[in-house]
Amino acid sequence: MAHPVTVLRDGTSIPSMGFGVGEHADIAAERYVTAALEAGFRLVDTARSYGNERGVGAALRRSGIPRDDVFLQSKLRGSDQGGQPAVRAALGRTLEALGTDHIDGYLIHWPLPRLGRFEESWEAILTLAEEGLVRAPGVSNFTLAHLDNLERRTSVLPLVNQVQSSPSVSRCYSVERMRARGVQAQAYSPLEHASGLHRTAALRSIADEVGATTAQVVLRWHLDAGRPFVVHSTSPARLREDLGAADVTLSPRQREVIDRFDHDEAHAVDPDEHHEM
Ligand SMILES: NC(=O)c1ccc[n+]([C@@H]2O[C@H](COP(=O)([O-])OP(=O)(O)OC[C@H]3O[C@@H](n4cnc5c(N)ncnc54)[C@H](OP(=O)(O)O)[C@@H]3O)[C@@H](O)[C@H]2O)c1
Repeated sequence: MAHPVTVLRDGTSIPSMGFGVGEHADIAAERYVTAALEAGFRLVDTARSYGNERGVGAALRRSGIPRDDVFLQSKLRGSDQGGQPAVRAALGRTLEALGTDHIDGYLIHWPLPRLGRFEESWEAILTLAEEGLVRAPGVSNFTLAHLDNLERRTSVLPLVNQVQSSPSVSRCYSVERMRARGVQAQAYSPLEHASGLHRTAALRSIADEVGATTAQVVLRWHLDAGRPFVVHSTSPARLREDLGAADVTLSPRQREVIDRFDHDEAHAVDPDEHHEM
């Protein structure tokens, strides 16, 4: 099956299945991104705070895959939030490290409301997007209330909000509210860091029914709910397995079984409390 794509509010298509490189150093990141591109991933998610943009860029160049065939996503770190000069300089460092003249997805990593700079940072990213340096301006870990603040300040909502989402904390309520306003949720930690989902009897039984692995069942469940995701693995075999989620078919009953794992957002990371610099 062809890899699924998600069409954003402005018509931009992004791969629905992305590879998140995680907090590995440059050398390891280069190795893992190389494996992910070889497996077939065409969206790569990194962040300034992961400290591995140089490794990601090196992997992309080494792959020989045309730059425009890969959706490259990175994030503005907390200590770089601020007005136009600060954000422009931060994006410049990111582009230099990645070895590219534009970025596809550029997200404010965390709102950090106590810093009080996310609205002006958003305004600055919109200007960089108008100049063609950013294709799809977005945010990460923003609540509906934070999105309201952005809209009040600029009248423009992000195209993407990357949020924690998995069977235990699907955030289905806010994902739907975002969708209604044209903001596409992108799930991070979609497998809950593989923290034990594969031992869940109900998931194992669905996996047996459809002839797939539990990871594939969970990733397919995200796609069926209209949530593209960024998943991480250090294993080339598991990367291929994860992409195989595109070939899995779940019935409405099987999806409902997984929907019932949801414990609500109280169990998720609280973006108002999180500290990241
Ligand atoms: N915006 C944010 O604040 C934020 C926060 C966290 C993460 N993220 C992004 O989201 C990406 C993914 O999140 P994550 O790493 O936290 O969680 P995840 O993708 O849910 O889980 C990753 C774990 O799942 C395992 N795994 C992957 N495929 C598997 C399979 N088919 N079978 C069994 N285990 C499998 C991997 O182990 P192996 O390596 O052993 O395969 C790895 O330990 C990150 O790399 C990052 O890009 C963003």
